[in-house]
Amino acid sequence: MNKSLIDWSHQEFSNLPWRKNRTLFRTLVSEIMLQQTTVSTVLNHFERFIQEYPSVEHIAKATNEQLTVSWKGLGYYRRARNLKKACEYFHENFNGEIPLNFDLLIEAPGIGEYTANALLSIGANQKALALDANLERVLSRIHGIKEQKGPKLLKLLKKKFDEGEIAPDIEKFGPRKFNEALMDLGRNWCKANKASCDLCPLSHDCSAASSGRPLDIPIRPAKKSGDISFNLVLLRLLFFKDGHIYVYRKKESEWLAGQYEVPTFTLQCEDSNFSQYPFLDFSDHHFLPEYKTLITKYRITNKVLVVNDQDLKQLNVDPSLYQLKPVDANSNLSTATMKAIQLLK
Ligand code: ADE
Repeated sequence: MNKSLIDWSHQEFSNLPWRKNRTLFRTLVSEIMLQQTTVSTVLNHFERFIQEYPSVEHIAKATNEQLTVSWKGLGYYRRARNLKKACEYFHENFNGEIPLNFDLLIEAPGIGEYTANALLSIGANQKALALDANLERVLSRIHGIKEQKGPKLLKLLKKKFDEGEIAPDIEKFGPRKFNEALMDLGRNWCKANKASCDLCPLSHDCSAASSGRPLDIPIRPAKKSGDISFNLVLLRLLFFKDGHIYVYRKKESEWLAGQYEVPTFTLQCEDSNFSQYPFLDFSDHHFLPEYKTLITKYRITNKVLVVNDQDLKQLNVDPSLYQLKPVDANSNLSTATMKAIQLLK
């Protein structure tokens, strides 16, 4: 199996920026960015971010606020804070070096099993499997493992790898090449909803392909109530005073912590537990054109209203509840707030 995979990869290898000039540091940054985010999104941000933060030390010494600004567009901001924690740890304990040992890596805050294995295999070409969703899917299909996608399946794959049942000659072909080839195969050919078995270099050896029903593996978990998404309608107020638009800084406990937003209210929400923005009972016909955004499980319709002091009074909004400041070039605005302001241009 391994030889056909590596031969295929020589033709089909994706020349992604983080695969060039490999260092452990570039691997750390890219692997954290690539968790929960598509390759195409990371492509737009990786090089810019690395230019801004060229080393562990640069990230360790940045403030959370600076990092949040630089992380914009990548979403899931907790990852930026985790990256900082990991870099602080490497800076303080390893002189800014990233240790090449699973047990030491996993001790670092912000580094999970996946990232530790990715650092070893992809970063340092050492024997390890970076079991992301692509490898989980491809390997469980090849080996016909009819298990539900998730921790139990990952554990089983890891055990089979450790026992030499999966990828026994990974070292012969190179752990980096091997992991990256499987990632490419999973991302482009052996997808969750479409398996192009006729183009796959491994189909002659693949249990799921020979069953004729490759998409049945891995078993998809039943939707939990937590997976349901909710429609949410927000009102964004463009509060103008003395020619400025005013924004406030989101608290640590709130969505988009550290970013700035215009005062925002909930008009409707399907989730009765929603408490990110106060409710406002309001309907008006003079909204600017609305736009859609998405945060975690909320599909958001954003309605935008331009208001002045007088309007705020009528809406019963007390601006002193926010520590409002005029927007300036340094304001780290949330994407939704930028879109609201953009409507005026
Ligand atoms: N190349 C190296 N790591 C990768 C990842 N996590 N996803 C896609 N391509 C990669």
